[in-house]
Amino acid sequence: MAGLPVLLFLGSFLLLVLLLGSPARADEHYYDFVLRESNFTRLCETKSLLTVNDSFPGPVITVHRGDTAYVNVHNHGDYGVTIHWHGVKQPGNPWSDGPEYITQCPIEPGNNFTYMVIFSTEEGTLWWHAHSDWTRSSVHGAIIILPPEGSSYPYPEPDGQQVFVLASWYKGDVNEEVDYDLETGQDTPRSDAYTINGQPGDFCNCSRESTVHWYVDYGKTYLIRLVNGVMNVEMFFAIGQHNLTVVGMDGSYLKPFVSTFVVLSPGQTIDLLVTANQPLGSYYVASRQYNTVRPDVDDYDHANATAIMQYNGNYTPSGAPIFPSTLPIYDDFVRALNFTSRLRSLASLEHPINVPMNITTRMYITASMNNVDFSNGTYTEVGLASSLNNVSWLNPSTDVLMAYYRNISGVYTNDFPDWPPTFYDFTAEDVDGAYNLAVQGARVKVLEYNEQVEVVFQGTNVLDASEDHPMHMHGYGFYVVGSGYGNFDNETNPKDYNLVDPPEVNTVPVPKKGWAAIRFTASNPGVWFWHCHFDRHLSWGMDTVFIVKNGGTPNTTMRDPPSFMPTCKSSLRLKNQRRFASHQPHNLDS
Ligand code: C2O
Ligand code: CU
Repeated sequence: MAGLPVLLFLGSFLLLVLLLGSPARADEHYYDFVLRESNFTRLCETKSLLTVNDSFPGPVITVHRGDTAYVNVHNHGDYGVTIHWHGVKQPGNPWSDGPEYITQCPIEPGNNFTYMVIFSTEEGTLWWHAHSDWTRSSVHGAIIILPPEGSSYPYPEPDGQQVFVLASWYKGDVNEEVDYDLETGQDTPRSDAYTINGQPGDFCNCSRESTVHWYVDYGKTYLIRLVNGVMNVEMFFAIGQHNLTVVGMDGSYLKPFVSTFVVLSPGQTIDLLVTANQPLGSYYVASRQYNTVRPDVDDYDHANATAIMQYNGNYTPSGAPIFPSTLPIYDDFVRALNFTSRLRSLASLEHPINVPMNITTRMYITASMNNVDFSNGTYTEVGLASSLNNVSWLNPSTDVLMAYYRNISGVYTNDFPDWPPTFYDFTAEDVDGAYNLAVQGARVKVLEYNEQVEVVFQGTNVLDASEDHPMHMHGYGFYVVGSGYGNFDNETNPKDYNLVDPPEVNTVPVPKKGWAAIRFTASNPGVWFWHCHFDRHLSWGMDTVFIVKNGGTPNTTMRDPPSFMPTCKSSLRLKNQRRFASHQPHNLDS
């Protein structure tokens, strides 16, 4: 049978021609991320920091829409770490999503793990970050997703682009401090400064020498890719005397609008166009915190982070860079809300949207600060926690995804509630102390494939501790169809939903003492984390997991695990041991 090899050869040749000839060929990219400690000096002090490839922020990943990136993460640090590709939907591939104890066990020191990051409909800017403890404060970087080869932006091609990553700087060892705070049930640390591309800028101690300079040419238009990698607060951002045209958010396009500032919560990314059309000179690129906690709590980080936008050319500098007078002050919720209310999907022929119209699953989820009982076996103390529908998430000792895949019981339960256990005036000035206590557990919500889901998040004022909560979902983009103040009214509020051009995002700020309504179609099978992107709320349990079942065809079925997944060794949990132990509910302790 001499003909068979020839046929096979011809067959694979044809296949090759087909693959190469297809117009939007998906490329593969390979990256090596080496996690290790190195020294950084900020605010007059030198400290050791875990970063990727010795850079803070870490390396930028650049792909075209629909590509796949393989990122080999080598852990040369001294504790277990995972990496999450924030906003990348990873169709059918939760194995590479990253949150520790949800979709994988930490990559232990001396080990490595290759993430397969599958891009699909995302286009614009996203980012990656560690998803273990508070390690993401120093382990993060931007992801640039260009239009597919051969096509272009839905706006005029910019002359250049600039990435700005906002982050929090802590003088101390933040993971150590947070571990202690979680063990003892007390409040977590505030940052000592905010940074733009790793530098606090001119207004912080010992920082002037290293302020980031961004050089521009007069008359040119630049695409700014802005990432909020800050740990616990929303941020305002503006540039002296320059208007910003908002064109995208969270890896989706928006109807362009002009603003003199933007506001974004941790997790969010915004694409902006700025034209260098002001007199030759230098202008501050500035960012400060947007604070929604009680006005009498003012021990927050008031630092103004700055970089300098500097025009090229021969001119005599006219003194100090111009600071943006349009940068809102810390508690300017009117302007923050005004900005957020302007977000609309592009919803064009080339970039259509698909808002679910026949809702099959409705959920009403309260987001609360709470107390839980901490017990060490001999006595019980009350400590800080947070919850969704009064359940404060507790990480299991092995990951939910493997337990789901292998049908292992005892790791999680399928009973995350669709609504809160009791209804009261959630946003009252004085919420009754009877509602302070949350229960702990790893309770997940299971969805059938392709269900059309509406979730209304309701912020509460329990413990008089209301503030915005940027709720983030892994594995999906969702449409923000409505948002408002007070308690959600299921008669009147849905009448005002925007079902025409709601923005598609992966993170939505639920307003202080208010609500936000989102919709998505459960078309991505897998295990997907949902949590507040303020890391102190994440650590305190304002989290849950959605498991989306397979759809019954090969195309709608979750992938099998890669040949190697890290395992949860008890030694890896040393660092977390106290937290696991101390979070045991009191009634299990007798
Ligand atoms: Cu930005 Cu759970 O992540
Ligand atoms: Cu929160």
